[in-house]
Amino acid sequence: MDQRKLLRVLDGERVFPPPVWLMRQAGRYLPEYREVRAKAGGFLDLCYDPDLATEVTLQPIRRFGFDAAILFSDILVIPDALDRGLHFVTGEGPKLTPIREDEIGALEPGRAETHLAPVIATVGRLREELPPETTLIGFCGAPWTVATYMIAGHGTPDQAPARMFGYQHPEAMEKLLYILAEMSADYLIRQLTAGADCVQIFDSWAGVLDEASFEAYAIGPVKRMVDKVRAAVPNAKIIGFAKGAGPFLSTYREKTGVDAVGLDWGVPMDFAKGLQKGGAIQGNLDPLRLIAGGRALEEGVDRILEHLSDGPLIFNLGHGITPNAPIEHVEALLKRIRG
Ligand code: CP3
Repeated sequence: MDQRKLLRVLDGERVFPPPVWLMRQAGRYLPEYREVRAKAGGFLDLCYDPDLATEVTLQPIRRFGFDAAILFSDILVIPDALDRGLHFVTGEGPKLTPIREDEIGALEPGRAETHLAPVIATVGRLREELPPETTLIGFCGAPWTVATYMIAGHGTPDQAPARMFGYQHPEAMEKLLYILAEMSADYLIRQLTAGADCVQIFDSWAGVLDEASFEAYAIGPVKRMVDKVRAAVPNAKIIGFAKGAGPFLSTYREKTGVDAVGLDWGVPMDFAKGLQKGGAIQGNLDPLRLIAGGRALEEGVDRILEHLSDGPLIFNLGHGITPNAPIEHVEALLKRIRG
């Protein structure tokens, strides 16, 4: 029997108490992260330094004993490998040079091999240093979500620039998503080969798409990635997190072939239970319940356990933990789940 509970759940097994990790679990809510981050200089310097990236990945494991560690990096290292002028402005998030439709043909995916080598080195280091019972999760952004930042050049409330780009330049959009899917699949294959136990594809902006665009942008490219990854690494375990995808999630699971679907906190328990008949689910506590603590936290955790712990469940938040999350509340969360 595999010691790594999360992998057993990805195989469809029910494990109780469920394995737990938190999206963005390495980050600014931890004083030890802020210390390393200050030493590294920029956020990207931290992502590309295998010693420091290994250290910050391990910090939440040491402190809380989560069942899984997620590689410390960012989804935007792919556009960075494409030389899209990525930089992080404190308090404002990522900035890139907005891409024009006539620039897509000149992108050079071949640059990723060398550019991402330090991240792959981090994966190898983590495999050596993690306890054997801790699952190592690799990740990348889904082509659509990565494209939204490349097109707008920054985060927006509803990714209108990328949606408009898709309507006005469908062929350029298709080409961009194809390039990103190929690069991202290669990147996941390298992570799995270097020692990641499974991978998660983050489609944080899937929820702004209409039905036809969801099929074309959120399902098609991710299916291509899943097929390519499994052709190179048979049996590769893949979690798909299509945030805000709601009623599209069952089709998403079926058509992409991911092993588990990540759920945001808007997904109702009955619907989640239905999805669980097709395989593992991951989620879906509102991150604000973690900030609030007390009854709000306890009731949120209990409701998920009550409705979903009869089947294959990975406990997580419905989106990333935020810098204002109190450490004591993370401890209380784990205690509530593990009893
Ligand atoms: O989960 C983890 O602990 C692993 C590391 C990880 C980071 N980003 C570190 C990070 C992961 C998996 C991501 C994914 C990511 N990055 C997503 C998808 C998931 C999501 O949350 O929606 C997206 C959209 C990004 C792009 C990105 N990176 C944004 C919008 C920001 C700025 C937002 C902010 O909180 O300031 C980042 C920066 C970032 N990525 C930080 C961390 C720890 C904060 C940077 C810092 O330390 O200053």
